Amino acid sequence: MIRVYDHLAPFYDVLHRRWLRFAGGEAQAALEAAVRMAMTPHSQLLDVGCGTGHFARTLLSEGTSPRQITLLDPSEAMLAHCRDIPVCQRRNRLEAMPFADETFDVVTCAWALETVPHPERALHELIRVLRPDGALCLTFCAGVPARRPTEWLVQKSMTLRGTGRFLDPAQVISVLRNTAFCDVRVVPCAGLAATLIARRSLSSHDTPGPQATTLDSNGSGAYPALRHQTPAARRHFVTVKLWPDH
Ligand SMILES: C[S@@+](CC[C@H](N)C(=O)[O-])C[C@H]1O[C@@H](n2cnc3c(N)ncnc32)[C@H](O)[C@@H]1O
Repeated sequence: MIRVYDHLAPFYDVLHRRWLRFAGGEAQAALEAAVRMAMTPHSQLLDVGCGTGHFARTLLSEGTSPRQITLLDPSEAMLAHCRDIPVCQRRNRLEAMPFADETFDVVTCAWALETVPHPERALHELIRVLRPDGALCLTFCAGVPARRPTEWLVQKSMTLRGTGRFLDPAQVISVLRNTAFCDVRVVPCAGLAATLIARRSLSSHDTPGPQATTLDSNGSGAYPALRHQTPAARRHFVTVKLWPDH
C-alpha cells in the first residue's frame, strides 16, 4: 500500500478532493472541527498518515504553532509534498511509531487506518502514543451502503484501484472501548465514511467502561446512524468485516 501511495503522490490532492466532494467531505469537516476543539495552545498533535500535509497547513494558517505539530507518513513521495511545512516530520509506518508511550495530546488519523494491513494493531499503536485524557480523532472509509450512484462509483473505483478498504465502524469502536478509552463518540455524517472521537481514560489501569460495545438486536447499538437504515442495509453493514475476528 505504501508503494501505491508513492505512485499516487503527484495526483493525490486531485483524487482526494474528488473523494471529499462525493463521499467523505462531511466526515473530514467533522474531524477538523473535533481537532480544533481538542487542541489547546499547549497541545502536542500527531497527524498519522499525513499524506501531502493538507491538514497541517490548515492548522498552521489558523495560528497553531509549528512546534505543536508532528507529521508521520511512510511514503517518501507523499512526505516530499510536506517539505515546505516547518514541523517535525517522521517517515514511519503507523504500526511501529518512533515515539515514547503517552507523548501526544491529540492524535489524528485521516483516511489512513483503512490502508494498513492490520487496523486493529494500528489502533493499539495510536492509543499507545496518546496521553491519558488525550483525544484520538479518526476518519476512515466506512463499510456503509452507498446511497447514491456517485457513492457507489467512488466505492467501486477505490476498491479497484486498491488505495484502501472500507472498515466496519462498529469494530473500530469495539477495539477502542475495549482498550483504553472511556468515551468514544461517533460524529454523525453522511457519505461512505465515519468520524470517531475517542478520549483516553485518565488512568492506564482503567478497565473498559460499562459501555463496551454491544450491538443490539437490530445491529445498530454501536452506531446510531444505522437506526435510519433499512433492516437489509443494517444486515449488510454489520457483516462487512474487513479484518479477521480474533
Ligand atoms: C488516503 S491518504 C490520507 C492522507 C491524509 N491524511 C489526508 O487526509 O489527505 C493515506 C495515507 O496513509 C499513508 N499510509 C499508508 N500506509 C501507512 C502505514 N502503514 N502507516 C501510516 N501511514 C500509512 C499513505 O502513505 C498516505 O499518505
